[in-house]
Amino acid sequence: MIFSPAASSPRLATDTVIETNDLRKSFASVQKEPGIWGGIRGLWSRKTVVKEAVRGVSVRVGAGEMIGFLGPNGAGKTTTLKMLSGILFPTSGAASVLGYKPFDRHPDFLRQIALVMGQKQQLWWDLPARESLLLLKEIYSVSDADYKTRLDEMTELLDIGAILDVQVRKLSLGERMKCELVAALLHAPRVVFLDEPTIGLDVVSQVRIREFLRTYQARNHATILLTSHYMQDVKELCERVVIINHGEKMFDGAFAELVSRYSDEKEVRLTFERAVPRPDIEAFGTVASMSDALHAVVRVPRESSAKRAGEMLAALPVADIAIGEIEADEVIRALFTPEEAGGTNDPAQPV
Ligand SMILES: Nc1ncnc2c1ncn2[C@@H]1O[C@H](COP(=O)(O)OP(=O)(O)O)[C@@H](O)[C@H]1O
Ligand SMILES: [Mg+2]
Repeated sequence: MIFSPAASSPRLATDTVIETNDLRKSFASVQKEPGIWGGIRGLWSRKTVVKEAVRGVSVRVGAGEMIGFLGPNGAGKTTTLKMLSGILFPTSGAASVLGYKPFDRHPDFLRQIALVMGQKQQLWWDLPARESLLLLKEIYSVSDADYKTRLDEMTELLDIGAILDVQVRKLSLGERMKCELVAALLHAPRVVFLDEPTIGLDVVSQVRIREFLRTYQARNHATILLTSHYMQDVKELCERVVIINHGEKMFDGAFAELVSRYSDEKEVRLTFERAVPRPDIEAFGTVASMSDALHAVVRVPRESSAKRAGEMLAALPVADIAIGEIEADEVIRALFTPEEAGGTNDPAQPV
Protein backbone atom coordinates (compact mmCIF):
# COMPACT_ATOMS: atom_id res chain seq x y z
CA MET A 1 0.00 0.00 0.00
CA ILE A 2 1.58 3.20 -1.11
CA PHE A 3 -0.69 5.53 0.80
CA SER A 4 -0.11 4.58 4.39
CA PRO A 5 -3.09 5.94 6.25
CA ALA A 6 -2.59 8.69 8.75
CA ALA A 7 -2.62 7.87 12.46
CA SER A 8 -5.56 5.64 13.26
CA SER A 9 -8.27 7.08 15.41
CA PRO A 10 -7.88 6.04 19.02
CA ARG A 11 -11.48 6.67 19.90
CA LEU A 12 -13.17 4.34 17.49
CA ALA A 13 -14.06 0.96 18.88
CA THR A 14 -15.82 -0.62 15.92
CA ASP A 15 -15.19 -0.39 12.22
CA THR A 16 -17.99 2.12 11.82
CA VAL A 17 -16.42 5.19 10.29
CA ILE A 18 -19.41 7.44 9.68
CA GLU A 19 -22.56 7.41 11.73
CA THR A 20 -25.44 9.83 11.82
CA ASN A 21 -28.54 9.73 13.92
CA ASP A 22 -31.59 11.77 13.00
CA LEU A 23 -29.33 14.40 11.48
CA ARG A 24 -31.11 17.62 10.56
CA LYS A 25 -30.28 20.98 9.07
CA SER A 26 -32.62 23.89 8.54
CA PHE A 27 -31.73 27.17 6.92
CA ALA A 28 -33.59 30.29 7.91
CA SER A 29 -33.68 33.09 5.43
CA VAL A 30 -35.50 36.39 5.32
CA GLN A 31 -37.96 36.59 2.50
CA LYS A 32 -37.93 39.89 0.67
CA GLU A 33 -41.21 41.14 -0.64
CA PRO A 34 -41.11 42.37 -4.20
CA GLY A 35 -41.29 46.04 -5.18
CA ILE A 36 -40.50 49.21 -3.35
CA TRP A 37 -43.48 48.96 -0.96
CA GLY A 38 -42.50 45.40 -0.14
CA GLY A 39 -39.04 46.65 0.70
CA ILE A 40 -40.40 49.34 2.96
CA ARG A 41 -42.87 46.97 4.66
CA GLY A 42 -39.91 44.65 5.22
CA LEU A 43 -38.35 47.28 7.46
CA TRP A 44 -41.05 46.61 10.04
CA SER A 45 -42.07 43.03 9.57
CA ARG A 46 -39.68 40.50 8.17
CA LYS A 47 -40.93 37.15 7.04
CA THR A 48 -38.51 34.39 7.88
CA VAL A 49 -38.68 31.26 5.81
CA VAL A 50 -37.24 28.05 7.14
CA LYS A 51 -35.94 25.49 4.70
CA GLU A 52 -35.48 22.00 6.10
CA ALA A 53 -32.64 20.84 3.89
CA VAL A 54 -31.87 17.62 5.76
CA ARG A 55 -34.70 16.00 7.68
CA GLY A 56 -33.60 13.21 9.99
CA VAL A 57 -30.99 11.21 8.12
CA SER A 58 -29.62 8.17 9.95
CA VAL A 59 -26.90 6.24 8.24
CA ARG A 60 -23.97 4.01 9.15
CA VAL A 61 -20.92 3.59 6.94
CA GLY A 62 -18.28 0.95 7.59
CA ALA A 63 -14.54 1.30 7.06
CA GLY A 64 -13.50 1.01 3.44
CA GLU A 65 -16.98 1.37 1.97
CA MET A 66 -17.57 3.49 -1.12
CA ILE A 67 -21.15 4.71 -1.01
CA GLY A 68 -23.09 6.44 -3.71
CA PHE A 69 -25.18 9.25 -2.35
CA LEU A 70 -27.98 9.98 -4.78
CA GLY A 71 -30.88 12.34 -4.94
CA PRO A 72 -32.30 15.04 -7.19
CA ASN A 73 -31.11 18.63 -7.10
CA GLY A 74 -31.86 20.21 -3.76
CA ALA A 75 -32.32 16.87 -1.99
CA GLY A 76 -29.82 17.76 0.73
CA LYS A 77 -26.71 15.87 -0.41
CA THR A 78 -24.25 18.74 -0.24
CA THR A 79 -25.68 19.93 3.06
CA THR A 80 -25.18 16.45 4.51
CA LEU A 81 -21.58 16.24 3.26
CA LYS A 82 -20.87 19.70 4.68
CA MET A 83 -22.16 18.59 8.08
CA LEU A 84 -20.05 15.44 7.94
CA SER A 85 -16.92 17.36 7.07
CA GLY A 86 -17.40 19.98 9.76
CA ILE A 87 -18.29 22.96 7.58
CA LEU A 88 -21.90 23.21 8.74
CA PHE A 89 -23.25 22.76 12.22
CA PRO A 90 -26.31 20.47 12.39
CA THR A 91 -29.58 21.94 13.61
CA SER A 92 -30.18 18.74 15.58
CA GLY A 93 -29.24 15.10 15.64
CA ALA A 94 -25.83 13.51 15.89
CA ALA A 95 -22.96 12.87 13.51
CA SER A 96 -19.75 11.03 14.16
CA VAL A 97 -16.89 10.57 11.71
CA LEU A 98 -13.86 8.51 12.76
CA GLY A 99 -15.12 8.91 16.31
CA TYR A 100 -15.05 12.70 16.12
CA LYS A 101 -17.86 15.21 16.06
CA PRO A 102 -17.15 16.87 12.71
CA PHE A 103 -18.03 20.38 13.76
CA ASP A 104 -15.50 20.32 16.59
CA ARG A 105 -12.96 20.41 13.75
CA HIS A 106 -10.37 18.62 15.81
CA PRO A 107 -6.99 18.85 14.03
CA ASP A 108 -6.68 15.03 14.11
CA PHE A 109 -10.08 14.81 12.44
CA LEU A 110 -9.27 17.36 9.75
CA ARG A 111 -5.99 15.60 9.03
CA GLN A 112 -7.86 12.40 8.18
CA ILE A 113 -10.62 13.67 5.93
CA ALA A 114 -10.99 15.41 2.60
CA LEU A 115 -13.89 17.17 0.94
CA VAL A 116 -13.78 17.58 -2.81
CA MET A 117 -16.43 19.75 -4.40
CA GLY A 118 -16.76 19.62 -8.15
CA GLN A 119 -18.01 23.16 -8.27
CA LYS A 120 -15.50 24.67 -5.89
CA GLN A 121 -11.87 25.30 -6.50
CA GLN A 122 -9.20 24.91 -3.86
CA LEU A 123 -6.04 25.30 -5.88
CA TRP A 124 -4.48 28.71 -6.34
CA TRP A 125 -5.66 30.02 -9.66
CA ASP A 126 -2.49 31.92 -10.56
CA LEU A 127 0.00 29.23 -9.61
CA PRO A 128 0.89 25.94 -11.19
CA ALA A 129 -0.74 23.04 -9.30
CA ARG A 130 2.67 21.82 -8.12
CA GLU A 131 3.15 24.97 -6.03
CA SER A 132 -0.15 24.42 -4.26
CA LEU A 133 0.73 20.78 -3.70
CA LEU A 134 4.03 21.73 -2.07
CA LEU A 135 2.19 24.09 0.22
CA LEU A 136 -0.31 21.39 1.16
CA LYS A 137 2.59 19.02 1.81
CA GLU A 138 3.82 21.47 4.45
CA ILE A 139 0.37 22.13 5.90
CA TYR A 140 -0.27 18.41 6.38
CA SER A 141 3.35 17.57 7.31
CA VAL A 142 3.64 14.95 4.58
CA SER A 143 7.15 13.47 4.52
CA ASP A 144 9.32 13.92 1.43
CA ALA A 145 9.16 10.20 0.72
CA ASP A 146 5.35 10.00 1.03
CA TYR A 147 4.96 13.13 -1.04
CA LYS A 148 7.03 11.68 -3.83
CA THR A 149 5.38 8.25 -3.93
CA ARG A 150 1.85 9.61 -3.64
CA LEU A 151 2.36 12.32 -6.20
CA ASP A 152 4.12 9.97 -8.64
CA GLU A 153 1.38 7.42 -8.36
CA MET A 154 -1.53 9.84 -8.71
CA THR A 155 0.20 11.68 -11.54
CA GLU A 156 0.51 8.45 -13.43
CA LEU A 157 -3.03 7.27 -12.74
CA LEU A 158 -4.47 10.59 -13.87
CA ASP A 159 -1.93 11.23 -16.61
CA ILE A 160 -1.22 14.78 -15.51
CA GLY A 161 2.59 14.79 -15.53
CA ALA A 162 2.64 17.40 -18.28
CA ILE A 163 0.28 19.89 -16.61
CA LEU A 164 1.48 20.13 -13.02
CA ASP A 165 3.70 23.06 -13.91
CA VAL A 166 1.10 24.97 -15.91
CA GLN A 167 -0.76 27.84 -14.27
CA VAL A 168 -4.05 26.42 -13.00
CA ARG A 169 -6.08 29.14 -14.74
CA LYS A 170 -4.82 27.87 -18.09
CA LEU A 171 -6.02 24.30 -17.56
CA SER A 172 -9.21 22.76 -18.88
CA LEU A 173 -11.96 21.92 -16.39
CA GLY A 174 -11.09 18.22 -16.52
CA GLU A 175 -7.38 18.86 -15.97
CA ARG A 176 -8.18 21.17 -13.10
CA MET A 177 -10.41 18.61 -11.44
CA LYS A 178 -7.66 16.00 -11.67
CA CYS A 179 -5.27 18.39 -9.93
CA GLU A 180 -7.93 19.13 -7.31
CA LEU A 181 -8.20 15.42 -6.57
CA VAL A 182 -4.45 15.08 -6.14
CA ALA A 183 -4.45 18.07 -3.81
CA ALA A 184 -7.29 16.63 -1.74
CA LEU A 185 -5.74 13.19 -1.44
CA LEU A 186 -2.11 14.12 -0.91
CA HIS A 187 -2.40 13.65 2.84
CA ALA A 188 -3.95 10.17 2.36
CA PRO A 189 -7.23 10.90 4.14
CA ARG A 190 -9.08 7.93 5.58
CA VAL A 191 -12.46 9.46 4.78
CA VAL A 192 -13.16 11.21 1.51
CA PHE A 193 -16.29 13.16 0.68
CA LEU A 194 -16.66 13.67 -3.04
CA ASP A 195 -19.40 16.06 -4.05
CA GLU A 196 -20.07 15.85 -7.78
CA PRO A 197 -16.42 15.35 -8.72
CA THR A 198 -17.20 14.81 -12.38
CA ILE A 199 -19.80 17.51 -12.91
CA GLY A 200 -19.50 19.26 -16.24
CA LEU A 201 -16.51 17.21 -17.36
CA ASP A 202 -16.02 15.71 -20.79
CA VAL A 203 -16.63 11.98 -21.04
CA VAL A 204 -12.93 11.09 -21.33
CA SER A 205 -12.07 12.94 -18.12
CA GLN A 206 -15.07 11.39 -16.38
CA VAL A 207 -13.91 7.89 -17.25
CA ARG A 208 -10.35 8.65 -16.19
CA ILE A 209 -11.45 10.04 -12.83
CA ARG A 210 -13.74 7.09 -12.29
CA GLU A 211 -10.88 4.68 -12.91
CA PHE A 212 -8.65 6.72 -10.66
CA LEU A 213 -11.16 6.59 -7.81
CA ARG A 214 -11.59 2.86 -8.22
CA THR A 215 -7.84 2.26 -8.04
CA TYR A 216 -7.36 4.71 -5.21
CA GLN A 217 -10.10 3.04 -3.20
CA ALA A 218 -8.81 -0.49 -3.85
CA ARG A 219 -5.29 0.44 -2.79
CA ASN A 220 -6.06 2.57 0.20
CA HIS A 221 -9.32 1.21 1.60
CA ALA A 222 -10.45 4.75 2.23
CA THR A 223 -14.07 5.26 3.20
CA ILE A 224 -15.67 7.27 0.43
CA LEU A 225 -19.00 9.02 0.12
CA LEU A 226 -19.66 10.04 -3.45
CA THR A 227 -22.46 12.16 -4.81
CA SER A 228 -22.82 12.35 -8.52
CA HIS A 229 -25.08 13.62 -11.12
CA TYR A 230 -23.98 10.89 -13.46
CA MET A 231 -25.53 7.57 -12.59
CA GLN A 232 -22.67 5.81 -14.33
CA ASP A 233 -20.19 6.97 -11.70
CA VAL A 234 -22.21 5.49 -8.90
CA LYS A 235 -23.12 2.36 -10.81
CA GLU A 236 -19.53 1.53 -11.56
CA LEU A 237 -17.98 2.51 -8.27
CA CYS A 238 -20.45 1.90 -5.50
CA GLU A 239 -21.97 -1.32 -4.30
CA ARG A 240 -24.22 0.45 -1.89
CA VAL A 241 -26.37 3.47 -2.56
CA VAL A 242 -28.15 5.81 -0.22
CA ILE A 243 -30.92 7.84 -1.80
CA ILE A 244 -32.32 10.99 -0.31
CA ASN A 245 -35.18 13.09 -1.48
CA HIS A 246 -36.49 16.26 0.15
CA GLY A 247 -33.90 15.80 2.89
CA GLU A 248 -35.09 12.35 3.88
CA LYS A 249 -33.47 8.99 3.32
CA MET A 250 -35.65 6.85 1.11
CA PHE A 251 -33.38 3.95 0.29
CA ASP A 252 -30.22 2.38 1.66
CA GLY A 253 -28.96 -0.81 0.10
CA ALA A 254 -27.47 -2.51 -2.94
CA PHE A 255 -28.08 -1.27 -6.44
CA ALA A 256 -29.74 -4.54 -7.42
CA GLU A 257 -32.01 -4.39 -4.40
CA LEU A 258 -33.09 -0.93 -5.41
CA VAL A 259 -34.44 -2.29 -8.65
CA SER A 260 -36.35 -5.15 -7.10
CA ARG A 261 -37.76 -2.87 -4.41
CA TYR A 262 -38.98 -0.08 -6.63
CA SER A 263 -39.90 -1.82 -9.81
CA ASP A 264 -42.75 -4.28 -9.98
CA GLU A 265 -41.92 -5.04 -13.58
CA LYS A 266 -39.29 -7.02 -15.44
CA GLU A 267 -38.10 -6.74 -18.99
CA VAL A 268 -38.35 -9.47 -21.60
CA ARG A 269 -35.91 -9.00 -24.48
CA LEU A 270 -37.01 -10.69 -27.66
CA THR A 271 -35.42 -11.40 -31.01
CA PHE A 272 -37.75 -12.71 -33.71
CA GLU A 273 -37.11 -14.99 -36.66
CA ARG A 274 -39.23 -12.77 -38.85
CA ALA A 275 -40.88 -9.39 -38.60
CA VAL A 276 -43.67 -9.16 -36.03
CA PRO A 277 -46.18 -6.30 -35.99
CA ARG A 278 -46.15 -4.25 -32.79
CA PRO A 279 -49.80 -4.92 -31.83
CA ASP A 280 -49.07 -8.67 -31.72
CA ILE A 281 -46.44 -8.01 -29.04
CA GLU A 282 -48.53 -5.48 -27.12
CA ALA A 283 -50.91 -8.27 -26.25
CA PHE A 284 -48.31 -9.58 -23.79
CA GLY A 285 -47.14 -6.44 -22.04
CA THR A 286 -45.95 -2.87 -22.46
CA VAL A 287 -43.57 -2.50 -25.38
CA ALA A 288 -40.71 -0.46 -23.95
CA SER A 289 -38.75 -0.33 -27.18
CA MET A 290 -38.73 -1.82 -30.63
CA SER A 291 -35.63 -0.93 -32.60
CA ASP A 292 -36.94 -2.79 -35.67
CA ALA A 293 -39.56 -5.44 -36.43
CA LEU A 294 -37.11 -8.15 -35.31
CA HIS A 295 -36.29 -6.84 -31.82
CA ALA A 296 -38.49 -5.82 -28.93
CA VAL A 297 -38.24 -5.14 -25.21
CA VAL A 298 -41.46 -5.81 -23.34
CA ARG A 299 -42.29 -4.89 -19.75
CA VAL A 300 -44.26 -7.51 -17.85
CA PRO A 301 -45.41 -7.78 -14.22
CA ARG A 302 -42.64 -9.16 -12.03
CA GLU A 303 -44.72 -11.96 -10.48
CA SER A 304 -45.93 -13.34 -13.78
CA SER A 305 -42.81 -12.74 -15.90
CA ALA A 306 -42.05 -16.44 -16.44
CA LYS A 307 -45.64 -17.20 -17.45
CA ARG A 308 -45.76 -14.27 -19.90
CA ALA A 309 -42.44 -15.32 -21.42
CA GLY A 310 -43.84 -18.81 -21.95
CA GLU A 311 -46.91 -17.40 -23.68
CA MET A 312 -44.75 -15.29 -25.98
CA LEU A 313 -42.58 -18.28 -26.85
CA ALA A 314 -45.69 -20.22 -27.79
CA ALA A 315 -47.41 -17.48 -29.79
CA LEU A 316 -44.60 -15.55 -31.53
CA PRO A 317 -41.73 -16.62 -33.83
CA VAL A 318 -39.11 -16.16 -31.12
CA ALA A 319 -35.45 -16.78 -31.99
CA ASP A 320 -34.05 -15.59 -28.68
CA ILE A 321 -35.53 -14.52 -25.34
CA ALA A 322 -34.09 -13.18 -22.09
CA ILE A 323 -35.77 -11.99 -18.90
CA GLY A 324 -33.99 -9.34 -16.88
CA GLU A 325 -34.29 -6.46 -14.50
CA ILE A 326 -35.11 -2.97 -15.68
CA GLU A 327 -32.02 -0.74 -15.64
CA ALA A 328 -31.41 0.94 -12.30
CA ASP A 329 -31.07 4.33 -14.01
CA GLU A 330 -34.58 4.09 -15.21
CA VAL A 331 -35.95 3.04 -11.85
CA ILE A 332 -34.28 5.97 -10.13
CA ARG A 333 -35.31 8.40 -12.81
CA ALA A 334 -38.87 7.27 -12.34
CA LEU A 335 -38.54 7.80 -8.58
CA PHE A 336 -37.58 11.39 -9.18
CA THR A 337 -40.02 12.56 -11.74
CA PRO A 338 -39.57 16.23 -12.67
CA GLU A 339 -42.21 17.35 -10.15
CA GLU A 340 -40.50 15.35 -7.45
CA ALA A 341 -37.12 16.75 -8.38
CA GLY A 342 -38.32 20.26 -7.74
CA GLY A 343 -39.11 21.38 -11.22
CA THR A 344 -36.08 20.39 -13.22
CA ASN A 345 -37.19 19.29 -16.61
CA ASP A 346 -33.82 18.33 -17.99
CA PRO A 347 -33.94 14.64 -18.90
CA ALA A 348 -30.14 14.62 -19.05
CA GLN A 349 -30.10 15.03 -15.29
CA PRO A 350 -31.12 11.65 -13.95
CA VAL A 351 -30.59 12.42 -10.28
N1 LIG B 1 -27.02 28.30 2.85
C1 LIG B 1 -28.27 27.99 2.52
N2 LIG B 1 -29.29 28.82 2.83
C2 LIG B 1 -30.57 28.51 2.50
N3 LIG B 1 -30.94 27.39 1.88
C3 LIG B 1 -29.97 26.52 1.53
C4 LIG B 1 -28.57 26.77 1.83
N4 LIG B 1 -27.85 25.71 1.37
C5 LIG B 1 -28.73 24.87 0.82
N5 LIG B 1 -29.99 25.34 0.91
C6 LIG B 1 -31.21 24.66 0.44
O1 LIG B 1 -31.26 23.38 1.02
C7 LIG B 1 -31.71 22.41 0.10
C8 LIG B 1 -30.69 21.31 -0.06
O2 LIG B 1 -29.56 21.82 -0.74
P1 LIG B 1 -28.30 20.92 -1.10
O3 LIG B 1 -27.84 20.21 0.12
O4 LIG B 1 -27.31 21.80 -1.77
O5 LIG B 1 -28.91 19.88 -2.12
P2 LIG B 1 -28.20 18.91 -3.16
O6 LIG B 1 -26.73 18.94 -2.90
O7 LIG B 1 -28.80 17.56 -2.91
O8 LIG B 1 -28.55 19.42 -4.52
C9 LIG B 1 -32.02 23.17 -1.17
O9 LIG B 1 -33.37 23.46 -1.21
C10 LIG B 1 -31.18 24.41 -1.05
O10 LIG B 1 -31.76 25.48 -1.76
MG1 LIG C 1 -25.20 19.40 -4.17
